[in-house]
Amino acid sequence: MISQKMRDAMNEQIKYELESAYLYLSMMAWFKANNLDGMATWMQAQSQEEVMHAMKFFHHIIDRDGKVELLPMGIKKTEWSSAAEAFQDAYEHEQFVTSRINELTKIAYDENDHAAKTLLQWFIDEQVEEEASTAKVAKDMEIVGKDGTGLLMLDRELGARMFTLPTPPA
Ligand code: FEO
Repeated sequence: MISQKMRDAMNEQIKYELESAYLYLSMMAWFKANNLDGMATWMQAQSQEEVMHAMKFFHHIIDRDGKVELLPMGIKKTEWSSAAEAFQDAYEHEQFVTSRINELTKIAYDENDHAAKTLLQWFIDEQVEEEASTAKVAKDMEIVGKDGTGLLMLDRELGARMFTLPTPPA
């Protein structure tokens, strides 16, 4: 059975993951409105991944006889001054999520909660990837600067991203 402290922290994390999904969906809408369809596709995949993250915590709580409580989500940004600003925001947001995962991991260690540790190890590895992928695009944007041709080339490249659901364990 999951402890109340860990359950509350994971319920809060579900909110953060869904807020992430909402933020990336908002960025998707902004990219679409600005004719950057490839970046919009990238953000759509990112948003879908965040829902999958939320559901990992959702099922973990239920599997351990805890109660899922969906908390109200905060309002996220809907406008950016440039594609570079949006990706910089995404990178900073991922750093915030990493700090939350670290907090949850601290609770798991304090409580000797091995089941949570296993789940959180997946998230620790995932956050390395999440930060790396957003940082990479943010840096590419810096190189491209105001060059429209470069921006369109990057847009085409990012449009190749696809979301695939992870294979459930056998
Ligand atoms: Fe679920 Fe992008 O962190």
